[in-house]
Amino acid sequence: MNTFGTRLKFTSFGESHGKAIGCVIDGMPAGIKFDYEFLQNELNKRRGGLNKFSTPRKENDRAEVLSGVFEDYTTGTPIAIIIFNENQHSKDYENIKNLFRPGHADFTYFHKFGIRDYKGGGRTSARETAVRVAGGAVCAMLLREFNISVESGVFGVGSIKSKLKESEFDFNLAKESEIFALDKDLEEEFKTEILRAKNAKDSVGASVFTRALNVPIGLGETLYDKLDSKLAHALMGINAVKAVEIGDGIEVSSNFGSQNNDELRNNHFLSNHAGGILGGLSNGNTITLKSHFKPTPSIFLKQQSMDINRENVICELKGRHDPCVGVRGSVVCTAMVRLVLADCLLLNSSSRIENLKKIYNL
Ligand SMILES: Cc1cc2nc3c(=O)[nH]c(=O)nc-3n(C[C@H](O)[C@H](O)[C@H](O)COP(=O)(O)O)c2cc1C
Repeated sequence: MNTFGTRLKFTSFGESHGKAIGCVIDGMPAGIKFDYEFLQNELNKRRGGLNKFSTPRKENDRAEVLSGVFEDYTTGTPIAIIIFNENQHSKDYENIKNLFRPGHADFTYFHKFGIRDYKGGGRTSARETAVRVAGGAVCAMLLREFNISVESGVFGVGSIKSKLKESEFDFNLAKESEIFALDKDLEEEFKTEILRAKNAKDSVGASVFTRALNVPIGLGETLYDKLDSKLAHALMGINAVKAVEIGDGIEVSSNFGSQNNDELRNNHFLSNHAGGILGGLSNGNTITLKSHFKPTPSIFLKQQSMDINRENVICELKGRHDPCVGVRGSVVCTAMVRLVLADCLLLNSSSRIENLKKIYNL
């Protein structure tokens, strides 16, 4: 299915080289000021073709809002956003029409559906993530009514990882940096590593840190749909993400309880090992998440593969690809976390009878 969310539902459609991609956001309350400029700015961050660290595919990614907004305010009806594709080079894909790119979703899509949309990878392409960014931007318009903000940046490229504490990550730098770097001392090294991979016709992985500030206590569910499971679901659902950590993540298994517990004093936590989530619910602390992206599957080195008739072939790619998908992927991480938090915020409005009664002035 192509829909996710419970109270706030997000559906996307479209293929990489089709006419357009788009999304429908259903469940957004009426009366939220619609910030068109912010929506476009968010899309511009994910856009390719801006520098040598991303794909040369240049798309304007101009968002057109088709419904759900009247005189600059949301109407409470589905918000449909469309982005027309402009810069398709479908010929680049002729030579992989019948073969599978190692590491790419071509293989599994073909075997599941029996159809091969080879042009730009069709629906397997992360082109679709542009509309997730649009959906996330709309959610940010709701979240900012509650002073909640979400931001992401890159703290690792390949084997080079920042040694900074999470609290030292530089989000002002990430806003300016061409690769959304969070560590000034490593920004150049990260760039060099990306270019080294690119020049070697290869690609490289990356790690992204996302934080959500001012999230009130109680968002999420106590079982099954815990906030941590919802966030992990949303982030793992991004193309090329292979691991997600909440708070101290995999480190917790090496620690003692005395190191891991977040002690309380004067109405606040003295640390944030939990990453802002306890018992499936936000605990009022900053939510901290790490998403680990694999290297871009499409590389320009010769690789062994198979075609749709199960014959051995050599895969040699043309086309335009990101040397490090984690960089643009970081913008998608922000969007997915916004979508989850907006959904949880709306769901939480009915968790207590006194809140429900307030709606009806009782
Ligand atoms: C923002 C972004 C851009 C991407 N660009 C490319 C690309 O140019 N070429 C490519 O082969 N994969 C790209 N990917 C990754 C593939 O879509 C993905 O790895 C592939 O379909 C296999 O799916 P999986 O890695 O989730 O298993 C990109 C991913 C993201 C998040």
